[in-house]
Amino acid sequence: MSRVYNFSAGPAVLPEEVLKEAADEMLDYRGTGMSVMEMSHRSKAYDTIIKEAEADLRELMNIPDNYKVLFLQGGASQQFAMIPMNLMKNGVADYIVTGQWAKKAYQEACLYGKANKIATSEDQTFSYIPDCSDLPISEDADYVYICENNTIYGTKFKTLPNTKGKTLVADVSSCFLSEPVDVTKYGVIYGGVQKNIGPAGVVIVIIREDLITDDVLPGTPTMLKYKTHADNDSLYNTPPAYGIYICGKVFKWLKKMGGLEKMKEYNEKKAKILYDFLDESRLFKGTVRKEDRSLMNVPFVTGSEELDAKFVKEAREAGFENLKGHRTVGGMRASIYNAMPIEGVEKLVEFMKKFEEANV
Ligand SMILES: Cc1ncc(COP(=O)(O)O)c(C=O)c1O
Repeated sequence: MSRVYNFSAGPAVLPEEVLKEAADEMLDYRGTGMSVMEMSHRSKAYDTIIKEAEADLRELMNIPDNYKVLFLQGGASQQFAMIPMNLMKNGVADYIVTGQWAKKAYQEACLYGKANKIATSEDQTFSYIPDCSDLPISEDADYVYICENNTIYGTKFKTLPNTKGKTLVADVSSCFLSEPVDVTKYGVIYGGVQKNIGPAGVVIVIIREDLITDDVLPGTPTMLKYKTHADNDSLYNTPPAYGIYICGKVFKWLKKMGGLEKMKEYNEKKAKILYDFLDESRLFKGTVRKEDRSLMNVPFVTGSEELDAKFVKEAREAGFENLKGHRTVGGMRASIYNAMPIEGVEKLVEFMKKFEEANV
């Protein structure tokens, strides 16, 4: 068996021990004589799996009792519609557009009501986070929306926007469980799990209970109402059962690693290795304003498209996969999620140094 260092932005690297455990349980899950993939989502064994997953996530994130945890489908993109459908009581929402995903969410919200773009960093290719300390928040905004970590551009909100009392909604797909968060500051935290938590197919929504109502936009399908899923503990219909099981294993792995404080320390240490090198390199340069740098997604360029392509090719041959930047920005991007071991980043930097020596 040979595993590569996988720097994919998502679906992305998962902890090896989780994959091994899942492999061990593939044919016979703990004496049930069947795989979790084959089991009824209403069975006793599965009930324990989903309940434990929720309990462990609650413990990891210190989620207060007045928030529901929902395991849904449709990816993060489906939330772009579910959020306005469920939350736009006044038909108004404010969006801070810091990248493609926030832009897509904003465009989707425009289909349902008055979405206001109150700040953006598009003027400089989304390479920074705008000052959000005193934005023109709309009087009647139902919520203020952010994408907290911008996967494509490698920026992260280091301080949350001042929403002037309005409900904050955040897409945390690419920074989920990478560091502690104060859940009480948000109305909704959500993310696709395929970056930091598990296999594609599950989206986790953490939502304050008062936001879960029957008062949704006319025509909202039953499946797209938060209340439907909240009332049924994410079992209104067949959930993405196997995916949730793997998420549960990752939650246990995170607890064993020491929880989110420890993960933050580890992630900072990992990211520093790469950023310090980028800051001193004669060839490679980071593309993001320093104070807004993400711990999870690190974009960089050589300044020459030819050299970028050569680097991606040679890196791949050396066992470093998926370093090509997003198709809309080019260059390179190393996604260094929770499960990327520190050795992966150290070896990548060694490789980059050699490449630099050979090509400058
Ligand atoms: C921050 C962010 N939001 C949303 C999405 C879209 O997720 P999905 O493909 O699960 O709809 C992505 C995907 O890469 C992302 O990085």
